[in-house]
Amino acid sequence: MPATVFVSRQLPPEALEVVRGRVTLRLNPEDRRLTPAELAGHLADADGLVCLLTDTIDDPVLARAPRLKVVANVAVGYNNVDVAAATRRGIVVTNTPGVLTETTADFTWTLILATARRVAEADAYTRAGRFTEWGLMLLLGHDVFGKTLGILGLGRIGKAVARRAQGFSMRVLYHDVIRDEAAERELGVQYRDKATVLREADIVTLHVQLLPETRHYVGEAELRLMKPTAYLINASRGPVVHEAALVRALKEGRIAGAGLDVYEEEPAVHPGLLECENAVLAPHIASASRETRVLMATMAVENCLAVLEGRTPANPVNPEALRQSR
Ligand code: GLV
Repeated sequence: MPATVFVSRQLPPEALEVVRGRVTLRLNPEDRRLTPAELAGHLADADGLVCLLTDTIDDPVLARAPRLKVVANVAVGYNNVDVAAATRRGIVVTNTPGVLTETTADFTWTLILATARRVAEADAYTRAGRFTEWGLMLLLGHDVFGKTLGILGLGRIGKAVARRAQGFSMRVLYHDVIRDEAAERELGVQYRDKATVLREADIVTLHVQLLPETRHYVGEAELRLMKPTAYLINASRGPVVHEAALVRALKEGRIAGAGLDVYEEEPAVHPGLLECENAVLAPHIASASRETRVLMATMAVENCLAVLEGRTPANPVNPEALRQSR
């Protein structure tokens, strides 16, 4: 009997073609987040799950999925999955690294430029019919070229952001738990401690994974190190930034602005942020190009199929579970 795969949200149809006829596919007919009870109901007889970062796959959900062998997350980040619980239960967890790197770096730059050059404010101004006369002092932002970019987290996406900075003649400082001398040679980036990056950068951009130790990685103390002319960009995970502290810094003019794609309590956005004209707010779309979303979904579906067919998936995040796989 073919294995049963539950797909928790809408995927690009191309991705589902990969498994058609090879497994029994069960789809959530609605593109909405299922409640834990609904999810558990669908997992009662599922062998595989393809899910999104909006699905919380915790131990209670896994406990109600006795046949589950694989959780294939359609995202590079997998903080929505309790990986330790999955490993204990012999369930393989996979993610989608690599295919979204360039798209996410492009969007990080979209936020950098939009924030520093006040594009969202300018758009609202024009639509409101307020562009009645050109003004030398109208909507002044700050230059990006030639400035100092501070990258916190120099993984795949951080490096792709650094590569683009070369075209803007920027000095690039970075901090990471691991110093990467090869990247320093290749990209001309300079390693500094975290405080120095925050103190010296004109733009600080976050590319760390969300882990217990990176929760509130940028909070009140870190924001106080930044220049009043500096911008904070976050396209990683919301809880990396202490949102209430950021609102205070933005409102008190302690930093010049912020470009955010992610929020602490998604999809809720801190009401204070909505009041800040100096914040550009996007709804978690950094990897949202048509091409990349098809690649991500296809990769997840292939990871799922590999486990169900007894092969090693390309992107396991808990390879130790492969050995004890159910
Ligand atoms: C998106 O946020 C991802 O982790 O892929």
